[in-house]
Amino acid sequence: MNPLGVSFCGSRLRNPTVLASGILGVTAAQLKRAEEGGAGAVTTKSIGPEERSGNRNPTCVALPHGLLNAMGLPSPGYEAMGEEWRQLKKMKVPVFASIYGASVDDFRRVAAYVADKKPALIELNISCPNTAEHGQAFGFEPSVAADVVEAVKEVSGRVPVSVKLTPNTHKTVAVAKACEEAGADAICAINTVSGMAINIEARKPVLSFKKGGYSGPAVKPIAVRCVYEIYEAVEIPILGVGGITTGRDAIEMMQAGASAVGIGSGVYYRGPNVFRLVCDEMREWMRGNGFASAKSLTGAAHD
Ligand code: FUM
Repeated sequence: MNPLGVSFCGSRLRNPTVLASGILGVTAAQLKRAEEGGAGAVTTKSIGPEERSGNRNPTCVALPHGLLNAMGLPSPGYEAMGEEWRQLKKMKVPVFASIYGASVDDFRRVAAYVADKKPALIELNISCPNTAEHGQAFGFEPSVAADVVEAVKEVSGRVPVSVKLTPNTHKTVAVAKACEEAGADAICAINTVSGMAINIEARKPVLSFKKGGYSGPAVKPIAVRCVYEIYEAVEIPILGVGGITTGRDAIEMMQAGASAVGIGSGVYYRGPNVFRLVCDEMREWMRGNGFASAKSLTGAAHD
Protein backbone atom coordinates (compact mmCIF):
# COMPACT_ATOMS: atom_id res chain seq x y z
CA MET A 1 0.00 0.00 0.00
CA ASN A 2 1.13 3.55 -0.76
CA PRO A 3 0.86 5.36 2.60
CA LEU A 4 0.79 8.78 0.95
CA GLY A 5 -2.01 8.06 -1.55
CA VAL A 6 -5.17 10.12 -0.98
CA SER A 7 -8.49 10.68 -2.72
CA PHE A 8 -9.61 14.20 -3.48
CA CYS A 9 -13.00 14.87 -5.06
CA GLY A 10 -13.02 11.55 -6.89
CA SER A 11 -9.40 11.74 -8.06
CA ARG A 12 -6.82 9.32 -6.74
CA LEU A 13 -3.61 11.21 -5.95
CA ARG A 14 -0.31 9.34 -5.55
CA ASN A 15 0.44 11.73 -2.70
CA PRO A 16 -1.32 14.76 -1.16
CA THR A 17 0.93 17.45 -2.69
CA VAL A 18 -0.66 19.59 -5.40
CA LEU A 19 0.98 22.30 -7.46
CA ALA A 20 -0.95 25.45 -6.47
CA SER A 21 -2.38 27.67 -9.15
CA GLY A 22 -0.26 30.41 -10.64
CA ILE A 23 3.19 29.09 -10.01
CA LEU A 24 4.15 27.37 -13.24
CA GLY A 25 1.66 28.86 -15.72
CA VAL A 26 -0.99 27.21 -17.88
CA THR A 27 1.09 25.26 -20.35
CA ALA A 28 1.45 21.50 -20.15
CA ALA A 29 5.25 21.84 -20.50
CA GLN A 30 5.35 24.02 -17.38
CA LEU A 31 3.00 21.80 -15.37
CA LYS A 32 4.98 18.74 -16.41
CA ARG A 33 7.89 20.01 -14.32
CA ALA A 34 5.77 19.67 -11.20
CA GLU A 35 4.58 16.21 -12.26
CA GLU A 36 8.21 15.16 -12.73
CA GLY A 37 9.04 16.79 -9.39
CA GLY A 38 6.65 14.39 -7.68
CA ALA A 39 3.37 16.37 -7.39
CA GLY A 40 0.24 14.32 -6.79
CA ALA A 41 -1.82 16.73 -8.94
CA VAL A 42 -1.25 20.06 -10.65
CA THR A 43 -3.34 23.22 -10.91
CA THR A 44 -3.18 25.52 -13.94
CA LYS A 45 -2.63 29.26 -13.68
CA SER A 46 -6.12 30.77 -13.58
CA ILE A 47 -7.77 30.84 -17.00
CA GLY A 48 -9.87 33.89 -17.83
CA PRO A 49 -12.69 34.84 -20.18
CA GLU A 50 -10.40 36.67 -22.61
CA GLU A 51 -6.74 37.41 -23.29
CA ARG A 52 -5.24 39.56 -20.58
CA SER A 53 -1.63 40.68 -20.26
CA GLY A 54 -1.71 41.28 -16.51
CA ASN A 55 -0.05 44.10 -14.60
CA ARG A 56 3.07 46.00 -15.65
CA ASN A 57 6.43 44.97 -14.17
CA PRO A 58 7.60 44.82 -11.46
CA THR A 59 5.02 42.18 -10.57
CA CYS A 60 6.89 40.08 -8.01
CA VAL A 61 9.43 40.73 -5.26
CA ALA A 62 11.11 38.32 -2.86
CA LEU A 63 10.95 39.67 0.71
CA PRO A 64 12.80 38.19 3.71
CA HIS A 65 9.96 35.83 4.70
CA GLY A 66 7.82 35.44 1.59
CA LEU A 67 6.98 36.54 -1.94
CA LEU A 68 4.81 39.52 -2.83
CA ASN A 69 3.21 39.29 -6.27
CA ALA A 70 0.72 41.23 -8.32
CA MET A 71 0.77 39.41 -11.64
CA GLY A 72 -2.74 40.63 -12.41
CA LEU A 73 -4.14 37.36 -13.74
CA PRO A 74 -2.38 37.22 -17.11
CA SER A 75 -4.15 34.66 -19.29
CA PRO A 76 -4.34 33.68 -22.96
CA GLY A 77 -8.12 33.45 -22.55
CA TYR A 78 -9.95 30.13 -22.48
CA GLU A 79 -10.66 29.98 -26.21
CA ALA A 80 -6.96 30.26 -27.11
CA MET A 81 -6.05 27.10 -25.21
CA GLY A 82 -7.13 24.39 -27.67
CA GLU A 83 -3.70 22.85 -28.27
CA GLU A 84 -2.78 23.26 -24.60
CA TRP A 85 -5.76 21.15 -23.54
CA ARG A 86 -4.63 18.39 -25.87
CA GLN A 87 -1.21 18.45 -24.20
CA LEU A 88 -2.69 18.67 -20.70
CA LYS A 89 -4.67 15.50 -21.46
CA LYS A 90 -1.34 13.64 -21.66
CA MET A 91 -0.41 14.50 -18.07
CA LYS A 92 -0.14 11.43 -15.83
CA VAL A 93 -1.40 13.21 -12.70
CA PRO A 94 -4.82 14.85 -12.28
CA VAL A 95 -5.06 18.39 -13.65
CA PHE A 96 -7.10 20.94 -11.72
CA ALA A 97 -8.22 23.86 -13.92
CA SER A 98 -8.33 27.21 -12.16
CA ILE A 99 -10.65 29.81 -13.69
CA TYR A 100 -11.62 33.42 -13.04
CA GLY A 101 -14.08 35.97 -14.33
CA ALA A 102 -15.25 39.54 -13.91
CA SER A 103 -18.90 38.53 -13.54
CA VAL A 104 -20.98 35.52 -12.61
CA ASP A 105 -21.70 35.09 -16.29
CA ASP A 106 -17.96 35.04 -17.10
CA PHE A 107 -17.47 32.25 -14.56
CA ARG A 108 -20.34 30.28 -16.09
CA ARG A 109 -19.02 30.73 -19.65
CA VAL A 110 -15.42 29.79 -18.84
CA ALA A 111 -16.54 26.88 -16.65
CA ALA A 112 -18.81 25.47 -19.38
CA TYR A 113 -15.91 25.44 -21.84
CA VAL A 114 -13.40 24.07 -19.37
CA ALA A 115 -15.77 21.37 -18.04
CA ASP A 116 -16.05 20.08 -21.59
CA LYS A 117 -12.28 19.41 -21.51
CA LYS A 118 -12.82 17.13 -18.49
CA PRO A 119 -10.20 18.33 -16.01
CA ALA A 120 -10.13 16.43 -12.71
CA LEU A 121 -11.59 19.49 -11.00
CA ILE A 122 -12.46 23.13 -11.66
CA GLU A 123 -11.10 25.58 -9.10
CA LEU A 124 -12.93 28.91 -8.91
CA ASN A 125 -10.51 31.73 -8.21
CA ILE A 126 -12.70 34.23 -6.37
CA SER A 127 -9.77 35.44 -4.30
CA CYS A 128 -7.06 37.13 -6.37
CA PRO A 129 -6.10 40.41 -4.68
CA ASN A 130 -4.38 41.77 -7.79
CA THR A 131 -7.02 43.13 -10.16
CA ALA A 132 -9.74 45.68 -9.65
CA GLU A 133 -12.50 43.75 -11.38
CA HIS A 134 -11.77 39.99 -11.43
CA GLY A 135 -10.63 39.16 -8.01
CA GLN A 136 -11.36 38.75 -4.42
CA ALA A 137 -14.53 40.89 -4.43
CA PHE A 138 -16.37 37.65 -5.32
CA GLY A 139 -14.91 36.06 -2.22
CA PHE A 140 -15.77 38.73 0.34
CA GLU A 141 -19.51 38.11 0.60
CA PRO A 142 -21.05 34.68 1.21
CA SER A 143 -24.05 35.40 -1.05
CA VAL A 144 -21.87 36.60 -3.95
CA ALA A 145 -19.59 33.57 -3.70
CA ALA A 146 -22.66 31.33 -3.60
CA ASP A 147 -23.99 32.95 -6.80
CA VAL A 148 -20.74 32.08 -8.59
CA VAL A 149 -20.83 28.48 -7.36
CA GLU A 150 -24.48 28.00 -8.33
CA ALA A 151 -23.88 29.36 -11.82
CA VAL A 152 -20.84 27.14 -12.36
CA LYS A 153 -22.57 24.04 -10.98
CA GLU A 154 -25.28 24.49 -13.63
CA VAL A 155 -22.70 23.88 -16.37
CA SER A 156 -19.93 21.80 -14.78
CA GLY A 157 -21.63 18.42 -15.18
CA ARG A 158 -19.66 15.66 -13.45
CA VAL A 159 -16.52 17.77 -13.00
CA PRO A 160 -16.15 18.64 -9.29
CA VAL A 161 -15.97 22.31 -8.35
CA SER A 162 -13.67 23.73 -5.69
CA VAL A 163 -13.59 27.33 -4.51
CA LYS A 164 -10.37 29.15 -3.64
CA LEU A 165 -10.98 31.51 -0.75
CA THR A 166 -9.39 34.74 0.33
CA PRO A 167 -8.06 35.27 3.86
CA ASN A 168 -8.52 39.03 3.39
CA THR A 169 -11.92 39.13 5.07
CA HIS A 170 -13.31 38.14 8.44
CA LYS A 171 -15.96 36.17 6.54
CA THR A 172 -13.74 33.38 5.17
CA VAL A 173 -15.55 30.67 7.12
CA ALA A 174 -18.99 32.06 6.28
CA VAL A 175 -18.00 32.14 2.61
CA ALA A 176 -16.84 28.51 2.82
CA LYS A 177 -20.19 27.48 4.30
CA ALA A 178 -22.14 29.43 1.66
CA CYS A 179 -20.10 27.77 -1.10
CA GLU A 180 -20.80 24.32 0.36
CA GLU A 181 -24.53 25.08 0.57
CA ALA A 182 -24.45 26.31 -3.05
CA GLY A 183 -23.05 22.93 -4.15
CA ALA A 184 -19.28 23.30 -4.06
CA ASP A 185 -17.46 19.97 -3.87
CA ALA A 186 -14.33 21.28 -2.14
CA ILE A 187 -12.68 24.33 -0.66
CA CYS A 188 -9.19 25.56 -1.43
CA ALA A 189 -7.79 27.75 1.35
CA ILE A 190 -6.08 30.15 1.16
CA ASN A 191 -5.12 32.54 -1.62
CA THR A 192 -2.49 35.17 -0.88
CA VAL A 193 -2.66 37.73 1.90
CA SER A 194 -3.02 41.33 0.74
CA GLY A 195 0.22 43.23 1.38
CA MET A 196 2.58 45.96 0.24
CA ALA A 197 6.30 46.77 0.16
CA ILE A 198 7.77 50.26 -0.21
CA ASN A 199 11.20 51.17 -1.55
CA ILE A 200 12.09 53.79 1.03
CA GLU A 201 14.84 55.44 -1.05
CA ALA A 202 12.52 55.84 -4.04
CA ARG A 203 9.60 56.60 -1.71
CA LYS A 204 7.40 54.39 -3.88
CA PRO A 205 5.65 51.03 -3.63
CA VAL A 206 7.90 48.33 -5.10
CA LEU A 207 5.19 46.74 -7.28
CA SER A 208 3.62 48.62 -10.16
CA PHE A 209 0.17 47.63 -8.86
CA LYS A 210 1.29 49.03 -5.48
CA LYS A 211 -0.36 46.26 -3.46
CA GLY A 212 0.14 42.55 -3.94
CA GLY A 213 -0.56 39.09 -2.59
CA TYR A 214 1.88 37.78 0.02
CA SER A 215 2.75 34.07 0.07
CA GLY A 216 5.45 31.82 1.50
CA PRO A 217 6.52 30.78 5.01
CA ALA A 218 5.20 33.93 6.73
CA VAL A 219 1.58 33.20 5.78
CA LYS A 220 1.50 29.58 6.96
CA PRO A 221 0.01 30.32 10.40
CA ILE A 222 -2.77 32.33 8.73
CA ALA A 223 -3.50 29.47 6.33
CA VAL A 224 -3.42 26.86 9.10
CA ARG A 225 -5.86 28.92 11.19
CA CYS A 226 -8.24 29.35 8.23
CA VAL A 227 -8.15 25.64 7.35
CA TYR A 228 -8.68 24.68 11.01
CA GLU A 229 -11.76 26.90 11.24
CA ILE A 230 -13.17 25.88 7.86
CA TYR A 231 -12.74 22.18 8.73
CA GLU A 232 -15.01 22.67 11.74
CA ALA A 233 -17.64 24.43 9.60
CA VAL A 234 -17.96 22.29 6.44
CA GLU A 235 -18.10 18.62 5.42
CA ILE A 236 -16.49 18.97 2.00
CA PRO A 237 -12.73 18.32 1.60
CA ILE A 238 -10.19 21.13 1.88
CA LEU A 239 -7.06 21.70 -0.17
CA GLY A 240 -4.81 23.57 2.29
CA VAL A 241 -2.48 26.14 0.71
CA GLY A 242 -0.18 28.73 2.22
CA GLY A 243 3.51 28.60 3.07
CA ILE A 244 4.07 24.87 2.75
CA THR A 245 7.70 24.13 1.99
CA THR A 246 8.51 21.10 4.14
CA GLY A 247 6.98 17.77 5.10
CA ARG A 248 6.33 19.12 8.60
CA ASP A 249 4.40 22.05 7.08
CA ALA A 250 2.27 19.65 5.02
CA ILE A 251 1.55 17.48 8.07
CA GLU A 252 0.56 20.55 10.10
CA MET A 253 -1.84 21.67 7.36
CA MET A 254 -3.38 18.21 7.15
CA GLN A 255 -3.75 17.97 10.91
CA ALA A 256 -5.58 21.33 10.71
CA GLY A 257 -8.07 19.66 8.37
CA ALA A 258 -6.72 19.57 4.83
CA SER A 259 -7.17 16.40 2.75
CA ALA A 260 -4.41 17.52 0.39
CA VAL A 261 -1.95 20.42 0.33
CA GLY A 262 -1.13 23.00 -2.33
CA ILE A 263 2.47 24.07 -2.81
CA GLY A 264 3.17 27.36 -4.57
CA SER A 265 5.99 29.52 -3.26
CA GLY A 266 7.66 26.30 -2.08
CA VAL A 267 8.66 25.76 -5.73
CA TYR A 268 10.58 29.06 -5.56
CA TYR A 269 12.28 28.10 -2.29
CA ARG A 270 13.18 24.45 -3.03
CA GLY A 271 12.80 24.05 -6.81
CA PRO A 272 10.35 21.89 -8.81
CA ASN A 273 11.40 18.79 -6.85
CA VAL A 274 9.87 20.28 -3.71
CA PHE A 275 6.95 17.82 -4.02
CA ARG A 276 9.23 14.79 -3.78
CA LEU A 277 11.21 16.35 -0.93
CA VAL A 278 8.02 17.14 1.02
CA CYS A 279 6.74 13.59 0.48
CA ASP A 280 10.03 12.03 1.65
CA GLU A 281 9.90 14.19 4.77
CA MET A 282 6.24 13.31 5.38
CA ARG A 283 6.93 9.58 5.05
CA GLU A 284 9.78 9.75 7.52
CA TRP A 285 7.75 11.74 10.06
CA MET A 286 4.76 9.42 9.70
CA ARG A 287 6.94 6.35 10.26
CA GLY A 288 8.37 7.84 13.43
CA ASN A 289 5.02 9.02 14.76
CA GLY A 290 2.69 6.11 14.17
CA PHE A 291 0.66 7.41 11.22
CA ALA A 292 0.10 4.62 8.68
CA SER A 293 -1.62 6.77 6.05
CA ALA A 294 -1.73 10.39 4.93
CA LYS A 295 -5.52 10.19 5.16
CA SER A 296 -5.30 9.64 8.91
CA LEU A 297 -3.51 13.00 9.29
CA THR A 298 -6.56 14.96 8.15
CA GLY A 299 -8.10 16.76 11.11
CA ALA A 300 -5.84 14.98 13.62
CA ALA A 301 -5.31 18.23 15.57
CA HIS A 302 -9.02 18.65 16.31
CA ASP A 303 -10.55 17.56 19.62
O1 FUM B 1 -2.01 38.31 -9.73
C1 FUM B 1 -2.22 37.12 -9.97
O2 FUM B 1 -2.25 36.66 -11.12
C2 FUM B 1 -2.51 36.26 -8.81
C3 FUM B 1 -3.53 35.46 -8.81
C4 FUM B 1 -4.04 34.86 -7.56
O3 FUM B 1 -3.46 35.10 -6.49
O4 FUM B 1 -5.04 34.20 -7.61
